[in-house]
Amino acid sequence: MAKNNLAGTGRKGSGAASIKADFPIFSNMPNGMPIHYLDNAATTQKPQAVIDSETGYYTEYCANIHRGAYKFSEEATDRYEHARETVARFIGARPNEVIFTSGATQSLNMLAYALAKRQLKKNGKITITEMEHHANIVPWQLAGESRGARIETIPFDTETLALDMSNAQSAIKGAGIFSFTHVSNALGRINNARELAGIARDFGVPVCIDAAQSVAHMKLEVKRLGCDFMAFSGHKMLGPTGIGVLYVSEEWGERLPPAFGGGDMIREVAIKSSKFMPPPGKFEAGTMPIAQAIGLGAAAGYMDRHREELEAAAGHADRLGKGLEEAGAKVYRRNGGKGFAPIVAFTLAGTHPHDIATILDRKNVMIRSGHHCAMPLHRKMGLPATCRASYHIYNTKDDTNALLAGIEDAKKILG
Ligand code: ALA
Repeated sequence: MAKNNLAGTGRKGSGAASIKADFPIFSNMPNGMPIHYLDNAATTQKPQAVIDSETGYYTEYCANIHRGAYKFSEEATDRYEHARETVARFIGARPNEVIFTSGATQSLNMLAYALAKRQLKKNGKITITEMEHHANIVPWQLAGESRGARIETIPFDTETLALDMSNAQSAIKGAGIFSFTHVSNALGRINNARELAGIARDFGVPVCIDAAQSVAHMKLEVKRLGCDFMAFSGHKMLGPTGIGVLYVSEEWGERLPPAFGGGDMIREVAIKSSKFMPPPGKFEAGTMPIAQAIGLGAAAGYMDRHREELEAAAGHADRLGKGLEEAGAKVYRRNGGKGFAPIVAFTLAGTHPHDIATILDRKNVMIRSGHHCAMPLHRKMGLPATCRASYHIYNTKDDTNALLAGIEDAKKILG
């Protein structure tokens, strides 16, 4: 057995400041100053437990999985399947409902492609919302094109920044699939996933939740949410890049054809046809991202042990929203942050978001600026771009203070 433990290390209940010590990147001092990393909606930093579990695979038992009758392969297979069990527990699913992918984008593309083969009716419709990021728009356009299906949307209100539910029933009714974001990556708005999934269920419409942002902050239970599919990435929840999950309910796991073929996803292959493994095997073609899956298991374990500390992120985001408003910024957040994840979008009149981000970076305050891969949302808001600060478990008051100080610098520099 290799030295690294399966779920990784990490103290319980130790407070955000000392949590930072679990993340080796923060011991760096670029330009001799501390790091204020506030771009967690794009990707998160990794705790030592995740780095160790990934490195352990490469340094202690590297081999392919499900293919070798020797000890390294057996250990790699055990660790990979153990990671699947950990991730299944993390979202309240069964292990055979967890498909590893390269990330949320691949999960959504894979689902769209597989549904388009059989289940999506010709000339039907696919329903999404106007709040989606591109990964939950473009795959459906591609699937729609191949079946002559049109895209219908549930709009959002640019004042309340919430979905306008008045047309939700008619938009969802009759769709071949309803796929929606749980949390807007651009605004942080939390959608009522249970309510939306419930409407789809009442109409017998299969439903997919894009949980790329919500999984990073909320405890998700797929059965409670009532979805058939759920997609998310590992790298936004303290895990490695190159790994993600498509949750496929047991019922759909039987019905959905594989999107990709090759490798070990078969029971039997003849030249003209093949028989597939039961789920999840039939959806995992070729050599999988083994180290990354093991790292994701460690990340899920770490997150579950530190839920309490993660809650502090909401308070930091609310304080930032208030501070930015006091500094004269326009903040795209409502009700003091109630109903929002710790993602704060803002603009400063007369300045470009990229200029703000560049000035903040001089003091290692790292935020994202731009359209955040959500062009339709920004078009509807009449904004080419925003600044976006997003928090995670290791952020402290100092990060908020540094950002607010940077805004004062930016105001002086940009006039
Ligand atoms: N979807 C990611 C973001 O919001 C990349 O930044």
